[in-house]
Amino acid sequence: MPKKMIHELHQMKRGRKITWITSYDYPTAQFAEAAGIDMILVGDSLGMCVYGYPNTIPVTMDQCIVHCEAVRRGAPNTFVIGDMPFMSYQSSVEKAVENAGRFLKEAGVDAVKLEGGRRVIPMVRGILDAGIVVCGHIGLTPQSSGQLGGHKAQGRTVESAQALVDDALALQDAGVQLLLLEAIPPEVGKFITEKLAIPVLSFGAGMHCDVHLLIATDLIGQFQAFTPKFVKRYCNVAEMVTSALKQYCDEVRSGAFPTDEHCYHMLEGEHEKFVELIKRYE
Ligand code: KIV
Repeated sequence: MPKKMIHELHQMKRGRKITWITSYDYPTAQFAEAAGIDMILVGDSLGMCVYGYPNTIPVTMDQCIVHCEAVRRGAPNTFVIGDMPFMSYQSSVEKAVENAGRFLKEAGVDAVKLEGGRRVIPMVRGILDAGIVVCGHIGLTPQSSGQLGGHKAQGRTVESAQALVDDALALQDAGVQLLLLEAIPPEVGKFITEKLAIPVLSFGAGMHCDVHLLIATDLIGQFQAFTPKFVKRYCNVAEMVTSALKQYCDEVRSGAFPTDEHCYHMLEGEHEKFVELIKRYE
């Protein structure tokens, strides 16, 4: 399937729903492309899901680039978005543009995502001016969860919902080509999806959005620390892998593995010579 470009994703708005996963590695990216996933986000959630950090704050640009490179190799024909980590864009427009550029130059992604509403508009404009496709991200924004009072759903009061609507409109006016809503009520997700001309992406923003996102490690039951309410698990890889590892331990300890079928034997005629050779060591 040829890679979808941003204008094709725009044409799909209000057509068939668009599928999106967060993935961090080459094999999962290969599986995603084979499954026909439309878009992959290499999210800074890799801090928790791959490195075991308590949150996304310690994640660095270099880590994001390495994971984007691996995903790009695994899914050469899928629209890939690089996630700008904490402090890669907040301090200045110049820094934001430089780091967004690294995602394209070093990892070959198709777009970058950054968190925040009206307050990140100068950075969004700078990155757009550099010719880079930008995905906005509002609602629960994990990089500023301290200010939000924790990893809490947003937009549950009318004041908070209004702030989200105003942020969404301002980001669209600034030129973002995609907008992600995280952990907000479906009523608010529906209004923003209908109001905006660009594709609206949901990570826990209800059923009405144009694009739906799950983190692959949640979807397959690999990440165990916590599971948000809006996640659906389609299999339990943690159980399967743990059980396979236990079976391996049991078989090594009992001598059931390895057996002759797992061995490389010496070439024809060489074993006899080897038997003669080792006599010298007796
Ligand atoms: O890092 C990530 O995977 C994300 C999604 C959870 C929205 O930003």
